[in-house]
Amino acid sequence: MSILSFTALTKSLPGGRTLFADVSADIEEPQSVALLAPSGQGKSTLLRLLALLDEPSGGEVRLDGKPAAVWHPQAWRRRAAYVAQQAVMLPGTIAHNVGAFSRLHGAPFDRDRAAKLMDAAGLAATDWEKDAAELSGGEKQRVALVRSLMARPAVLLLDEATASLDEHSKLAVEGLLADALAAERTTLVWVTHDLEQARRVGSRVWFLAGGGLADSEAEAFFREPPSEAAERFLKRGGTEAVPP
Ligand SMILES: Nc1ncnc2c1ncn2[C@@H]1O[C@H](COP(=O)(O)OP(=O)(O)O)[C@@H](O)[C@H]1O
Ligand SMILES: [Mg+2]
Repeated sequence: MSILSFTALTKSLPGGRTLFADVSADIEEPQSVALLAPSGQGKSTLLRLLALLDEPSGGEVRLDGKPAAVWHPQAWRRRAAYVAQQAVMLPGTIAHNVGAFSRLHGAPFDRDRAAKLMDAAGLAATDWEKDAAELSGGEKQRVALVRSLMARPAVLLLDEATASLDEHSKLAVEGLLADALAAERTTLVWVTHDLEQARRVGSRVWFLAGGGLADSEAEAFFREPPSEAAERFLKRGGTEAVPP
């Protein structure tokens, strides 16, 4: 049973540059995928295509085996939730943000679950009545994650979701998301430029370079990179070096 898949996906930019062409992958069971690429190769774009926040130039994306066209975009995004690199808070308190999903869907707010997630995100001491706008970037990012997890998505599309976190909070978030995978069977797609993180969290690696995508088992990717581009990328330590 396919959870999330894409076939022959192509994205060309208005100026004519093709970011990637004919890329395909299929996530058949809940797992954690690290999406790696040098900067500017289209990681965020691919993630946004998978959240129906952008349109492909060709090819198809499917969720639960069903093409995007048969889904209501909002239902799709609830099931395959995109977590942006720059977390955006709704105006109002932290409680208001964390409860956004249940308000939107008229579901009861599960305060215990929210508290557990906040604790696991390292936000146990945070006052929920505080204005969300007062939070630091890293705190916003974690509140945004908790907000997404409250909806119990089948897939979380994480765009550098830990980029503004200190080491301690980053590990807390990795733990929180590992729990979501183990307990809720939430598939995780992590865009990260942090190779150590990719090694820790990824069971598969999607490596995007030169317009193509290599889908590897993570251990194999790091042991025997699938291309020269991947080898160079690993040698550079996966830093956001500018590609030629
Ligand atoms: N809608 C768009 N219009 C024009 N350029 C875009 C658009 N979306 C992405 N790009 C460009 O495509 C390139 C890849 O972007 P992005 O997906 O953000 O890469 P990455 O996340 O791997 O760094 C960048 O040069 C970006 O400016
Ligand atoms: Mg990006």
